Amino acid sequence: MKKQQLAPLVLFSLTLILSLIHSTTAAAATSGNHNITRILAKHPGFSTFNHYLTITHLADEINRRQTITILAIDNAAMSSLLDKHLSITTLKNVLSLHVLVDYFGAKKLHQITDGTTLVSSMFQATGSAAGTAGYVNITNLKGGKVGFGAEDNDGLHSYYVKSVEELPYVISVLQISNPLSSADAEAPTAAPSDIDLIGIMSKQGCQSFADLLRVSKALPTFKESVDGGLTVFCPTDTAVSGFSAKYKNLTDSQKVSLLLYHGVPVYQSLQMLKSNNGVMNTLATEGHNKYDFTVQNDGEDVNLETKVNTANIVGTLIDQDPFVVYKISKVLMPRELFKGVKEEKDLAPAESPKAAKSKAKKKKAAPAADEDADSPADGPDADADSDDQKAADNENGVNGLNQGLRFIMVFFSLFIGALVL
Ligand SMILES: *[C@@H]1O[C@H](CO)[C@@H](O)[C@H](O)[C@H]1NC(C)=O
Ligand SMILES: *[C@@H]1O[C@H](CO)[C@@H](O)[C@H](O)[C@H]1NC(C)=O
Ligand SMILES: *[C@@H]1O[C@H](CO)[C@@H](O)[C@H](O)[C@H]1NC(C)=O
Repeated sequence: MKKQQLAPLVLFSLTLILSLIHSTTAAAATSGNHNITRILAKHPGFSTFNHYLTITHLADEINRRQTITILAIDNAAMSSLLDKHLSITTLKNVLSLHVLVDYFGAKKLHQITDGTTLVSSMFQATGSAAGTAGYVNITNLKGGKVGFGAEDNDGLHSYYVKSVEELPYVISVLQISNPLSSADAEAPTAAPSDIDLIGIMSKQGCQSFADLLRVSKALPTFKESVDGGLTVFCPTDTAVSGFSAKYKNLTDSQKVSLLLYHGVPVYQSLQMLKSNNGVMNTLATEGHNKYDFTVQNDGEDVNLETKVNTANIVGTLIDQDPFVVYKISKVLMPRELFKGVKEEKDLAPAESPKAAKSKAKKKKAAPAADEDADSPADGPDADADSDDQKAADNENGVNGLNQGLRFIMVFFSLFIGALVL
């Protein structure tokens, strides 16, 4: 082949490579940036549905996921659901039945193979559903009608109305006529405040702290806070036993304050803690008794600094928005109780900073591994692998795809080059 033919061909393949790389990165950048609250805010007819997606924290879960379909119901349909006076937790289950973990645009809806299919919903994906409950039956009916029904409920009781918004293969919002009803989703659930705080902590390596809390006047405050969001920082058993002399030395009300100091009355995911440094109020904060501490990130480590000592997060016991428990390396010592005490005088440091560091390093090296080596993998936090982690995994997937694609394109261009020569 002539040399002159080479230049345009190489140029062409280079352009192809660049445009492909550009389009895939652009797609990766837009996906995952959807915000269901903002999408629905443009449609006032869905304001009630939108409101309850926020209240139940489902909006956060929807925003973290990709390839998702929301079966939205308008304000009139929502009020028929609210007439059932379900608890917020039960309502969350029912609404999560309206979030399909697959993408259905209006077009795909009418092109279902064999005219009927079962699709997994977020209710099914959370593991709250038994058997086939949590699957949604979508069926094409006569005259182009599309019917929906929860699989554990006989028959199709809701129908496709219109497409509200579609961001292809990322998120689709479709209006359906009636709320999907499912006996399983509507079964009364234990409200978050019935969460067995003490049981969970005991089983997951925070037995000593749980024992202190069990007999303390601080316990009701922890329980009452769960509904509105609660983050508990639970010192390890070694940390608590090293602290016992100091604890015994405190008056009863000081003991209560110390325990309350380990609770924060908002839900803080690990991702939030990692991205926000600053002062945090605790359950013990009241008037001039500040009882606060500072969250300070050191790379992947999250440090909690009081004016007296510094602890760091060494694991996650349970993460069930709005409730999360982290295991920390030391008992936090508030300035209000330990004025003048310096960390060096800390006679029995529970876990030397070195040990905690190496643990944290291990975590960094193997991000997919269970964050808390001490906790049994089949505990209630077997899924402690949080959605944030999953989101990160997704991103890695996209990056992997990009790299694979780049590799293929470079290979392809070399091939063309060789052919031309
Ligand atoms: C989504 O949009 C709402 C309303 O604009 C906003 O309050 C919320 O912070 C947004 N969420 C995210 C994750 O950006
Ligand atoms: C969906 O429900 C309809 C009506 O009850 C039923 O005929 C159909 O077989 C169901 N589809 C699947 C995939 O189970
Ligand atoms: C107990 O309290 C006394 C008086 O405040 C103090 O001198 C002593 O060091 C404390 N002991 C421990 C173990 O903290």
